[in-house]
Amino acid sequence: MRPQGVVTRGTTNPNRLRRVDNWIVETCGDRLRDAPDPLVVDLGYGATPVTAVELRARLAAGVRADVRVVGLEIDPVRVAAAQPAADPPGLTFARGGFELAGLRPALVRAFNVLRQYDEGEVGGAWRTVTDRLAPGGLLVEGTCDELGRLGAWVLLDADGPRTLTLAAKLTTLGSPAALAERLPKALIHRNVPGERVHALLADLDDAWRAAAAYAPFGPRQRWLRAVAAVREAGWPVAGGPRRWRHGELTLPWAAVAPR
Ligand SMILES: C[S@@+](CC[C@H](N)C(=O)[O-])C[C@H]1O[C@@H](n2cnc3c(N)ncnc32)[C@H](O)[C@@H]1O
Repeated sequence: MRPQGVVTRGTTNPNRLRRVDNWIVETCGDRLRDAPDPLVVDLGYGATPVTAVELRARLAAGVRADVRVVGLEIDPVRVAAAQPAADPPGLTFARGGFELAGLRPALVRAFNVLRQYDEGEVGGAWRTVTDRLAPGGLLVEGTCDELGRLGAWVLLDADGPRTLTLAAKLTTLGSPAALAERLPKALIHRNVPGERVHALLADLDDAWRAAAAYAPFGPRQRWLRAVAAVREAGWPVAGGPRRWRHGELTLPWAAVAPR
């Protein structure tokens, strides 16, 4: 399995993954707190180690101070370039791919990695990673834009995909339809009539438009109203306003899985 069109740009925007990291702290924190070995892998950290540095800092501050983050990269040049940022034992960098270099982490975050692969390779990559997780381990796999304003990710465990989360920076969100461009690889080609994710985005966009009267109270109020309307329309939206207010929307995977 070879990545296609590997991104060769030499920078990564700091804070790009803040949205998913905060969600991980909130949603996966207990699992990590209970883990006998608090080992986390940042798979495919990219041109610079900044996303791994930030993940370690966020987990150490928000979940447990003894977290150990290993940044794994398939590109040996990027592994060498990251070494000055290492801070063992809490943060190290090594060469590795979906086989996780023999590690058995409690959590893997793989962001903006699978988009370089074919849709048909996603299931195999997911299984290769989830087969190697520690018991009870989790994989968070997703995509975001350059500045991290729009993102979407799938949470998986050993039994497969569990949820899809869409997330947007509400102060810059024109319309939820923009999230379609950042769907995870498993869904990005499924935003077509007849597919559930297409229906979800259409309903969310309609609800956002219908909630225009809330705009004077700020985009957060408008988003909260739109998410409530989507739930009222029958979508099994998870969580409650405490998470929605961050510009998130999480659903069970079964509600959006490709047909
Ligand atoms: C676009 S960068 C993403 C960087 C960072 N995760 C982010 O979201 O900003 C994708 C990285 O994934 C790496 N990559 C591609 N396939 C991989 C694999 N199977 N295992 C580990 N890294 C991989 C590439 O070398 C590249 O550095």
